[in-house]
Amino acid sequence: MKTFEEMWEDLKPYLSCEKGLDEGYYDGKYTRYFARYCKHIVGVDISPEFYEKAKENLKDLDNVELKIMDAANVDYSDKYFDVVLCTSFHEFDLSGKDEFKMDLELKTRILNEMARLSDTIVFAEIDPDNLSAELYKVFNPIEQHDVRTRKSNELIDKVLKKKGYKLLLCDKAVDKIPYKSKEEFKEDMLSWWAEVHVPENEEEKQQMLDKIENILESRKFLTNLCFDDVFRYTVYKKSN
Ligand SMILES: C[S@@+](CC[C@H](N)C(=O)[O-])C[C@H]1O[C@@H](n2cnc3c(N)ncnc32)[C@H](O)[C@@H]1O
Repeated sequence: MKTFEEMWEDLKPYLSCEKGLDEGYYDGKYTRYFARYCKHIVGVDISPEFYEKAKENLKDLDNVELKIMDAANVDYSDKYFDVVLCTSFHEFDLSGKDEFKMDLELKTRILNEMARLSDTIVFAEIDPDNLSAELYKVFNPIEQHDVRTRKSNELIDKVLKKKGYKLLLCDKAVDKIPYKSKEEFKEDMLSWWAEVHVPENEEEKQQMLDKIENILESRKFLTNLCFDDVFRYTVYKKSN
């Protein structure tokens, strides 16, 4: 499998442009990668809290303009952007996490909006086989992240191909996230899904940590002190 740096090298020809749109920037981690290649990035995220977070994290970059904006209704003219980048954005249920329903209508509206804004659309999303799907269940047992990710990928492919886009690239890469100790690793896993559920007491916390430990060790992540965050990345392009 490709390394994370190789993934960005593969995407570089599509991300190297004048005007790019980053959808759902969260804390700006991947906006920073995008900013290596694109001259001017507009980032949109619906959350005011993440706006503040990303603003702080990216304050040293002068080619990123962050906005609080709904990806279903982006206030820019048709084909304004050379490229739209989505990292770990589309596979999530964009309508909210309480029921984990698949709002295909909302996802379709967002895809149509992307197609209105650019002829090149890049996705770097959690792979359906990423271990995070198992870990997510510790926080909410009804979540089937792998199933929703697969459905989301099918929808992206169907909607964009119907609109005349071609799939130019489809590959997988691993972002290796290192940890200094098992304790730091497990505590970080608790924080990844703190938005979904925080343990109510010490007993529940220990139970969750035990489950997390078993899941991580199923792929020797704890032994290696490294989380292999596997991405599936795709490039869709429409030529006129
Ligand atoms: C899982 S995070 C992904 C973040 C980031 N791109 C990454 O790879 O780390 C999904 C992000 O999408 C944002 N989001 C959800 N619905 C949105 C919408 N309709 N319009 C814009 N942003 C949205 C959330 O606030 C969140 O920051």
